[in-house]
Amino acid sequence: MKIGVLGAGRMTEALASGWVHAGHDVLVGGRTPGKTSDMAKRIGARAGTLREAAEFGDAVLVAVLLAGLDETLRAAGAPEGTLAGKAVIDCGNAVDVTDYSQVRYEGGSSMAEEIARLSPGAHVVKAFNQAHADVWRMRPPVFGGRPLAVPIAGADEGKPAARTLITDLGAEPLDAGDLTQARHLEAMAIIVIRLLSSGAAPLSVFAWSASEKR
Ligand SMILES: NC(=O)c1ccc[n+]([C@@H]2O[C@H](COP(=O)([O-])OP(=O)(O)OC[C@H]3O[C@@H](n4cnc5c(N)ncnc54)[C@H](OP(=O)(O)O)[C@@H]3O)[C@@H](O)[C@H]2O)c1
Repeated sequence: MKIGVLGAGRMTEALASGWVHAGHDVLVGGRTPGKTSDMAKRIGARAGTLREAAEFGDAVLVAVLLAGLDETLRAAGAPEGTLAGKAVIDCGNAVDVTDYSQVRYEGGSSMAEEIARLSPGAHVVKAFNQAHADVWRMRPPVFGGRPLAVPIAGADEGKPAARTLITDLGAEPLDAGDLTQARHLEAMAIIVIRLLSSGAAPLSVFAWSASEKR
């Protein structure tokens, strides 16, 4: 698959290196050219502008800090339709780390819904936001002999690509519903981030994640 990535940070390096390893053609688009090309070279991907990444991918990962979301989507041409008809995967978290409150948009909507609002025609799916970048660097992410379960929420049209990107990392997709459910995935991640920040081990808290299937 042709995968475009918006953002050249830790999540991009962790996820996109796995997709390159799985044989996908990845173009990393970033706002800082030197940093973007260095990272793309390190993981065996192409480098380009945000707009080039949006236009390149059949699937496009959005991996930027919340503060840069609007600027990134505009630079990528999303409001003009560059992401229309594509699976757009959002791994971001809308959290204010000064008090661990959830950042919500008009009507209480999520970061993923904001991406959909700014990207007409895009098939937005929330995924990958529940685990730390270190987990996404694992090849494969297996805990207690079981592959990591990755909840996804979003547009049905974007889910086949999201499932492929998850299984190609050695993890297991779990359908958590439509894009409104991204609000809950973003809220859940805040608990994980807070526990990590306080030095706790989320696996010991979320014991259900290691329970047997019914
Ligand atoms: N790190 C994790 O463990 C983790 C886990 C799950 C989800 N997430 C979420 O995934 C997303 C990406 O996280 P990350 O750790 O990859 O972040 P990161 O390394 O700090 O940065 C990612 C990208 O965001 C861009 N950026 C930052 N501030 C910006 C601004 N004000 N305007 C425009 N662009 C800006 C950076 O641009 P430059 O390249 O120019 O620096 C970089 O390319 C975030 O929403 C985060 O909450 C992170």
